[in-house]
Amino acid sequence: MTDTKLIAILPGDGIGPEVTAEARRVLEAMALPLSFEEAPVGGAAYRASGHPLPDETLALAKRADAILFGAVGDPAFDGLERSLRPEQAILGLRKHLATFANLRPARIFAGLEDASTLKPEVARAIDLVIVRELNGDVYFGEKGRRTTDAGLREGHDLMRYDESEVRRIAHIGLQTAVKRRGKLCSVDKANVLETSQLWRDVVIEVAAEYPQVELTHMYVDNAAMQLVRNPGAFDTIVTGNLFGDILSDQASMCVGSIGMLPSASLDADAKGLYEPIHGSAPDIAGQGKANPCAAILSAAMMLRHSLAMSDPADRIEAAVAAALATGVRTPDLGGTASTRAMGDAVLAAL
Ligand code: IPM
Ligand code: MG
Repeated sequence: MTDTKLIAILPGDGIGPEVTAEARRVLEAMALPLSFEEAPVGGAAYRASGHPLPDETLALAKRADAILFGAVGDPAFDGLERSLRPEQAILGLRKHLATFANLRPARIFAGLEDASTLKPEVARAIDLVIVRELNGDVYFGEKGRRTTDAGLREGHDLMRYDESEVRRIAHIGLQTAVKRRGKLCSVDKANVLETSQLWRDVVIEVAAEYPQVELTHMYVDNAAMQLVRNPGAFDTIVTGNLFGDILSDQASMCVGSIGMLPSASLDADAKGLYEPIHGSAPDIAGQGKANPCAAILSAAMMLRHSLAMSDPADRIEAAVAAALATGVRTPDLGGTASTRAMGDAVLAAL
């Protein structure tokens, strides 16, 4: 248990390097048996070597015990063919590492109720986790372009799941609910989509093995509405890749800022990639304005889920809460503190 664990740090683009630097400082301050190796990814890697996910970066990610990821995305590369765009790095990592289970918790930290666009009493009740399937759906189905018989340009992306893919994420959703308040809401669009009807059928089958979980189903449009109407009613949500992408951004705004939300992407052995759910935010990159909390909280999730270090994980989460309680706020939360100052406040609270 005392052997040193290797953490791959993939800072990426935009604010990714700034926020992962703070997360690394917090980890280093805790004197845990960890070693760190960094590698470029996304647009930064494309600039350096012509590919968003270079072989050496992928090899490091595979060799490491866990991966701390920043963000990818750079408008300078929007014109490149899709396979070379920065976003392909994170999609490629998810696929190569088979991290099919994406956990995106959303809860409000005391004192941040006013940062939410929801009424404080509505925001205060939020304590949910979105379990998003990450290796399938319309993200990874067959896609392409063609010209129709009428001479029109057409694009298509195939939405698909097979039952084994739904079954394994259903288990994760149900197990997550068991560890929480025992309520699972499966989100789909079964009134329109065949993929969703299969999803719903399989979730119901798997749920039979978890009689202690109260399972409900909701169409995604209704879920989007309930997330702002009465978000406190949700405990665990399980959903597909595309719906989970959208609902998790929405949930992040309900808790005040996308700069607060961490995530874990786990494979079948709980090896994981950890990243803030926010993107590279090119508009504020390099200005020391980014909120490092999501990256720091991602590091805490990494300790808990992949490295069996739950005490230090608890300490980091408590330190973030304590730092916020002192009133320090980055601009996304209505304050003026820099990325470094926020990191300093967390370190001081440790
Ligand atoms: C996320 C992001 C990614 C996604 C992008 C960067 C490909 O939005 O992690 O939510 O769509 O999954
Ligand atoms: Mg997203």
